[in-house]
Amino acid sequence: MGGNTIDKETKIPRHIALIMDGNGRWAKRRLMPRSFGHRRGMERMIGLMEHAFDLGVDYITVYALSTENLKRPQEELNGLFDLIRNHFREYMGRVCARGVRLRIIGDTSLLPTDVQEILRESEAETEKYEGKGINVALCYGARDEIVRAANLAVEKGEKVTEEEFSGLLYTGGQPDPDLIIRTGKEVRLSNFLLYQAAYAELYFSNKMFPEFSDKELEKAIVEFSRRTRRFGKTDEQLQTE
Ligand code: IPE
Ligand code: IPE
Ligand code: MG
Repeated sequence: MGGNTIDKETKIPRHIALIMDGNGRWAKRRLMPRSFGHRRGMERMIGLMEHAFDLGVDYITVYALSTENLKRPQEELNGLFDLIRNHFREYMGRVCARGVRLRIIGDTSLLPTDVQEILRESEAETEKYEGKGINVALCYGARDEIVRAANLAVEKGEKVTEEEFSGLLYTGGQPDPDLIIRTGKEVRLSNFLLYQAAYAELYFSNKMFPEFSDKELEKAIVEFSRRTRRFGKTDEQLQTE
């Protein structure tokens, strides 16, 4: 144990969620357009997903575009949509080929229709898989997700339990994230998984997303593994369990 290396003792989180922040600043420092940062960010996202599955993670949720990000300049948004148009299906196909079910979470009706179509096709190609999963959060906002779930509950016309309510969220049926990582130096959740994050361990990295290497991911997992998750109980209680 000790150090930043993963070994047999390291507890691997079952579900990692990732706030991929800092693409724009990373590019700006290199005197490059923000779109260059997004391009590199997308490649890094794929690399990290592959590495996480290799390490034994079962679920990965990535925050790719928030509902609030839709207020960005149209030119930047078009660049992001073009990335999806040109690379998403191929890249995700590569990662999911190892038996991973892809889900897009968020209000995708806000996206251009041809982009929606690509996302639907990419999801459909993975319908045969279960057990491991990737959620790509696009036009996602946690408050929007919670209100949507509340409205679904109202439509059912019955009071719901916490468990039933979880089932109405976009992530219904999946385990809550154990570890939430945010890159890009900001220390906030920016409307990401507010309900599911109740007992997640939070990890903030000063690295901009395109420079968040596989080694940095391992560092975050080692730090996660060292933490004591009490879920409200005392250390004494945990020892006797
Ligand atoms: C995160 O990087 C990716 C998206 C929100 C699409 P940013 O684009 O927010 O990069 P910074 O925070 O401006 O550096
Ligand atoms: C959060 O990053 C959203 C994504 C990474 C997709 P932002 O860059 O939008 O967050 P704020 O605006 O700094 O809180
Ligand atoms: Mg940002």
